[in-house]
Amino acid sequence: MMLKNKVALITGGAGGIGLATAKLFLEEGAERVAIVDFSEENLKMAEETLGTEKVLYIQADVSKAEEVKNYTNKVKTELGKIDVLFLNAGVEGVVKPMEHYPEETFDQVMAVNVKGVWLGMKYAFPIMKSDGGGSVIITSSVAGLRGTAQVSAYVGSKHATIGLMRVGALEGAPDNVRVNSIHPSPVDNRMMRSLEDGFAPGMGDTVKENFTKMIPLGRYANNEDIADLALFLASDKSKFITGATYVIDGGFTV
Ligand SMILES: NC(=O)c1ccc[n+]([C@@H]2O[C@H](COP(=O)([O-])OP(=O)(O)OC[C@H]3O[C@@H](n4cnc5c(N)ncnc54)[C@H](O)[C@@H]3O)[C@@H](O)[C@H]2O)c1
Repeated sequence: MMLKNKVALITGGAGGIGLATAKLFLEEGAERVAIVDFSEENLKMAEETLGTEKVLYIQADVSKAEEVKNYTNKVKTELGKIDVLFLNAGVEGVVKPMEHYPEETFDQVMAVNVKGVWLGMKYAFPIMKSDGGGSVIITSSVAGLRGTAQVSAYVGSKHATIGLMRVGALEGAPDNVRVNSIHPSPVDNRMMRSLEDGFAPGMGDTVKENFTKMIPLGRYANNEDIADLALFLASDKSKFITGATYVIDGGFTV
């Protein structure tokens, strides 16, 4: 029961990693979990999967200030506090070299993956600070640590979250708000299927095989692997850890 009495808010909470994490947080005794997601379809599926009154479902776009203000206030009002803020919503954009990369896609990826994280901290920090602190976990990627051709917006956005995480760690520390980022290699879920198909349309399986060969542990991560790391960072077992980048990649970046 690593999260007994804790209230957690997960953005992108109805997607692959987010939903697996919500499930684990509940199993580990979280008092309440708020799931924020843009996709009504995913939210409906999450509700069907979790089916508990302990979960508050909120439809919101993390890149819009008004909506972030609303979701943070709603969680404070309805659930009383925010002990854990998992800023996990993200989009992959498209796979194209920079000279062909659509500017509007670049803007959208930055808005969700970077501004969404910034807005999340901006509006949740006052709540977390006034309630004695808490843990913020930002989902970056191995794409935040190294380059990959043809995914400039995604790679740029995931590098940027490390900067935001570091500033958040410094600004949160005096009030016991810890901020860390996690950096998964390919995870076996929808986002990777989309990227695999982007790299070689119709030949996603071959792309997956090639990526897998680059991972010393010999497989993609699954959503639950990432949830386990989020649980550690959410819990008091990590109470002296802040400002850290946690690579979870089966040895991919070694
Ligand atoms: N899948 C991977 O291989 C992988 C690897 C490293 C990092 N990540 C990161 O993990 C995080 C979670 O992704 P996932 O793998 O679970 O993919 P996913 O697509 O299953 O989940 C992402 C969720 O974010 C939601 N979302 C997208 N835009 C949003 C917005 N504007 N406002 C609110 N919600 C929004 C989606 O509706 C979706 O439910 C992302 O930040 C992603 O970049 C994924």
